[in-house]
Amino acid sequence: MKTRLRGENAYRGATLTTYDPLDPLTAAQPHADYRELLRTGGVHYNPGRATWIISDHALVRAALRDTDRINSTRGVTRLQFSMPLLVLTDGEQHAQLRKKVQPAFTKRALQTWAQMIDGLARELVADVLAQPGCDAVRRLAIPMPIRMIANILGIPESDGDEFRRRSEDAVRIIDFSPRLESVLASAKGAGAVVALRRYFTDRFATGQLLSTDTVLGRLVEGNADGAMTEDDLFFFALLLLIAGNETTTNLLGGMIDTLAANPHQFEQIRRDPDLIPMAVEEHLRFSSPIQNLYRYTVADYSVGDVTIPEGSRVLLSFGAANRDPAVFTDPDTFLADRNPRSHIAFGYGAHMCIGAPLARMEACAVLRELVEKVRRIEIVGAVGWSTNASLRGPTRLPVRFVPA
Ligand code: HEM
Repeated sequence: MKTRLRGENAYRGATLTTYDPLDPLTAAQPHADYRELLRTGGVHYNPGRATWIISDHALVRAALRDTDRINSTRGVTRLQFSMPLLVLTDGEQHAQLRKKVQPAFTKRALQTWAQMIDGLARELVADVLAQPGCDAVRRLAIPMPIRMIANILGIPESDGDEFRRRSEDAVRIIDFSPRLESVLASAKGAGAVVALRRYFTDRFATGQLLSTDTVLGRLVEGNADGAMTEDDLFFFALLLLIAGNETTTNLLGGMIDTLAANPHQFEQIRRDPDLIPMAVEEHLRFSSPIQNLYRYTVADYSVGDVTIPEGSRVLLSFGAANRDPAVFTDPDTFLADRNPRSHIAFGYGAHMCIGAPLARMEACAVLRELVEKVRRIEIVGAVGWSTNASLRGPTRLPVRFVPA
């Protein structure tokens, strides 16, 4: 990556850069570039990509707060598009949509799912323990969130395999990169969405998936005025799949990799299991399963000395901000007891992740199992990393869990 300051007519004070998360090598290993971005100023411009980049922790948070001038209404990816969806609205419309879905994630709801999540963690950690050398992404990090979502939706065990297959395909619909394999994956994803829609419509017709212990049942109950249509319910289920799957897979896979690379930290958590929730937060900071999202300016937007003109595409780098040395001392080191309260792995402000408590429960359950059952985690083969421009995590993680 190259950075250089432009002369007087520059992008009004921004530092020019070639940092490009669309480059697969950069996406797989972005941290050296983050150090460079943070060292050379919090606001950059990549002319080749016509993209502004904000990496400084305070400036990313300020942008996430200022939804009057820089917001999600034109999209949160490189591709601009608008839709009346929670993630793609702001202001009053967003507040109303958010209020509608809130009943799905009450404290009471979360408590009723805790046992199921613990059970999944127990089963999947035991499975990896029993298969030394297996790929922990395939055997644990992928099945954990997808089975958790199937469970909270109330999908019967007999439909589990079909649901999981369709879900894995359906989430590929958001694969917007212009490469051929991505376009094909998006097309397959669209087919899977249609099949899932049919599945839900058939079940709704017979009252299935809507009992009060399911997430959709809670939404119907929490919107007693009948505000949730069948379409709303289906799109909410799809949102859970899209927002809650790969993100959590990245978190869990990344956590296993980090604990293997930092055996002393793992040992410290084993000696003091009360550290588990804090270690999960630190891992969220350290790994940032969503590395970045975009916003578009709807008015001129001033950041320090820089003015980003109206209509600009701005990349907010959560991954860099979570390693900003101005906020986190020795940011490239994983410290289980750091207590990184101001990390923004779940975003910040109005769009802050509503699934965060669920993701935290999953990660804590897995870490608890590891602490109890595993003495050491060894990586026994080449680790593969995703090359996706926004979501980052291991794609292949051959491990041996050494029993406690
Ligand atoms: C480690 C796992 C997860 C990470 C790192 C993560 C991260 C994020 C981030 C950064 C945002 C903010 C988006 C923005 O500012 O535009 C977000 C929003 C959201 N997340 Fe998550 N998420 C995770 C898991 C989940 C889960 C498990 C669910 C649901 C079951 C979920 C549902 C959502 C939804 C619905 C939003 C949109 C909220 C809004 O726009 O108001 N996420 N998430």
